Amino acid sequence: MIIKTQKSIAASEITDPLIFKQRRQIIKSLLAITGAGFAPAWASENKPMWDNLPQGDFSTHELTPTPLELIKNYTNYYEFAFNKEDSTDLAQHLAIDPWSVEISGEVEKPTRFHLEDMVRQQTLEERIYRFRCVEGWSMVVPWVGFSLASLLKSVKPLSRARFVKFTSVHEPEVMPNQRSNAMLTWPYTEALRLDEAMHPLTILAVGLYGDVLPKQNGAPLRLVVPWKYGFKSIKAIVKIELLEKPPLTTWNQAAPHDYGFYANVNPDVPHPRWSQNSERQLNSRFFTPRRQTELFNGYGEQVASLYRDMDLRHFF
Ligand code: MTE
Repeated sequence: MIIKTQKSIAASEITDPLIFKQRRQIIKSLLAITGAGFAPAWASENKPMWDNLPQGDFSTHELTPTPLELIKNYTNYYEFAFNKEDSTDLAQHLAIDPWSVEISGEVEKPTRFHLEDMVRQQTLEERIYRFRCVEGWSMVVPWVGFSLASLLKSVKPLSRARFVKFTSVHEPEVMPNQRSNAMLTWPYTEALRLDEAMHPLTILAVGLYGDVLPKQNGAPLRLVVPWKYGFKSIKAIVKIELLEKPPLTTWNQAAPHDYGFYANVNPDVPHPRWSQNSERQLNSRFFTPRRQTELFNGYGEQVASLYRDMDLRHFF
């Protein structure tokens, strides 16, 4: 299941019932951090947080979230380190408060938001999504976030806007690989077509498992696009630009034949050095048996129409 409504979510499915009960409280605390005065739908006993979900026909396979400890300790954050343990530790040095995000380019109302103001204007939701890394492993992540479309609409995109570019923070003082200019061109950037950015599944995450987003997972603000490989889900976003032309993006620029602009999960398009046909599921301390990778990571019903006229082998 992609987006859980109150009727269909089973408390025991995500974590133990006690933690589930605490979750509303924790998310309230999150909002207290990000801005007082915001009255989300779920704040009232009669109006659950899942009330404001987009309407649609969402598929029904059940997902069991990967344990939080694994999500927090198996991270890719190359500004800090090229291995998953060190990036987790070193990311703790990033200062994330205060934080502002500039939205500019082809918009009627270019705006620099304090993060608190941005979140206060949005409706937070929990989204339990599959997360598939191009390296061949996967998790299931219960994000807390808000619709990117809703944010973009608030700055009024101009009709010539076609692409959305995201830029991560540039902090060489605390990010060792930015200091040494290692491997990639910094800051990390990513991009989507505007229609992909406006899709109801695309969110900006500020939380995980009902709590604030851990720094190593991209705090305070990261993109989540569940039908694309994980490298599109850029962390620590400071700038969002609406553009007429497709921009260069970090991985596409570094290795265009390995990492396409689209990066839609596709079992039929192998990475030049490995198959993408199946994935190791990160479900416990050890990887559980491999799972057959699904086209669009299982979200085809919702997103395939975006690519109706495209040869997915060419636009990978
Ligand atoms: N964003 C930035 N700024 N820097 C990164 O190195 N890694 C990407 C993506 N976003 C990355 C990033 C990759 S390769 C993946 S798979 C996911 O973040 C990993 O997200 P996670 O560490 O929360 O699992």
